Amino acid sequence: MKMFQAQVYIARRSQLKKAVGKGLILFMGNNESPINYRDNTYNFRQDSNFLYYFGISQPGLAAVIDAESGEEILFGDEFSIDDIIWVGQQQSLGEKARQAGIYRRQDFSTLASFIQKNKNRIHILPLYRHDNLIMLAEFLSKTPAEIREMASTTFIDAIIAQRSYKSAEEIEQMEIAVNISRKMHLNAMRSVSPGKYEYEIVSEIYRTAKAMDADMAYAVILSVHGQTLHNHYHGNILKGGQLLLNDSGAENNMFYAGDITRTCPVDRTFTSKQAEIYEIVLEMENSSIAMLRPGLAYREVHIAANKLMLNRLKEIGLVNGDVDEMTEAGVGGIFMPHGLGHMIGLDVHDMEDLSENRVGYTPDLKRSTQLGLKSLRLARKLETGFTLTVEPGIYFIPELLTKTETEGKFRDWINFEKLKSYHDFGGIRIEDNVLITADSHQILGTPIPKSIGEIEALR
Ligand code: GLY
Ligand code: MN
Ligand code: MN
Repeated sequence: MKMFQAQVYIARRSQLKKAVGKGLILFMGNNESPINYRDNTYNFRQDSNFLYYFGISQPGLAAVIDAESGEEILFGDEFSIDDIIWVGQQQSLGEKARQAGIYRRQDFSTLASFIQKNKNRIHILPLYRHDNLIMLAEFLSKTPAEIREMASTTFIDAIIAQRSYKSAEEIEQMEIAVNISRKMHLNAMRSVSPGKYEYEIVSEIYRTAKAMDADMAYAVILSVHGQTLHNHYHGNILKGGQLLLNDSGAENNMFYAGDITRTCPVDRTFTSKQAEIYEIVLEMENSSIAMLRPGLAYREVHIAANKLMLNRLKEIGLVNGDVDEMTEAGVGGIFMPHGLGHMIGLDVHDMEDLSENRVGYTPDLKRSTQLGLKSLRLARKLETGFTLTVEPGIYFIPELLTKTETEGKFRDWINFEKLKSYHDFGGIRIEDNVLITADSHQILGTPIPKSIGEIEALR
């Protein structure tokens, strides 16, 4: 099984034990998840916290760490002759456990009584898989709602305080994931031509990832209607004059994610109208990345990108007025209704199962309710070792523009008349993955073409 050295997991668990201090720490691994009946399952994906502390990617596992005695037990069944018949000979679970530095294994059936014995000192995480939620509810004779209430903030915060800082071996894996994502994007862009269906481009993305022993880190977002932020429909025909937005990223064979977006014209070249907006998004992306360093709050980077966008949109006459006032009022959210980025790692939105606000905000930072800013997943001060996405965009969402105009909102600032000719423009997003270094930043992976010249030169 592809895993880091045992010492990596041992050190991670030791740090966690110290941070939690008291009680029994429980990890529920993920199980197979049925598509349409029990034995026809989605691709198995292990829980990321389980991967981080134990590295074993296999269904039917749980693990406990006693923060006081230091005892560590892996719960899971050794494979039987039936398993060998159906899925073949494999490494024993005991061997896999040793690869993670764990020397005690017990059958899964012993987990219930173990948990019942320790029910007054147990730390659990928020359970996003309902089978695990129900299992734990049954073990503890509680309702699923009561189990949800039990999530331990000590445990959650201890994990966030570890997983937020990527180690050298993690950065290495993340660069691999980004470099596979890069190939996915290059092959996708090279295959674009008028008359093809979107799904034909999607097939290039899958083919490329599979050929490099990788999978998708999330469902591919690819559309000529890039103004729809997370568009998973791929049945449109590419037409000359349109833009194609591709937001796709690889999960490599150590389960680290890439999250990359590129937008290219369906024709070989950008029209001047497309190029004008594209250059604004590119400038937002480059200038946001250039700002990144430890100590700077990511919320400030989001706001700076918004101001830059409003300044540039003002220059081309799509908005007018004082940019600070517009920013304060939230005009930018009409054109970029999402946040500038999020943490990335084993999860594409890293640790979002633990709570988006606990990962991306600190108690002194209140989450905004304004369109755009309310969707900012990462707002806190950046620190050395964080890995995050930078993904500005400009979108012309006809329904949102019409609604805003009809409501008379922002009428002093937004030039709704001029915007009418943008209703069929679509959307542009450019996204890269960045590491915060000791005093600056580093874009992960080999650079992926993003200037107009580079993108046009691909075809
Ligand atoms: N790929 C989803 C996102 O960019 O957040
Ligand atoms: Mn993305
Ligand atoms: Mn992203």
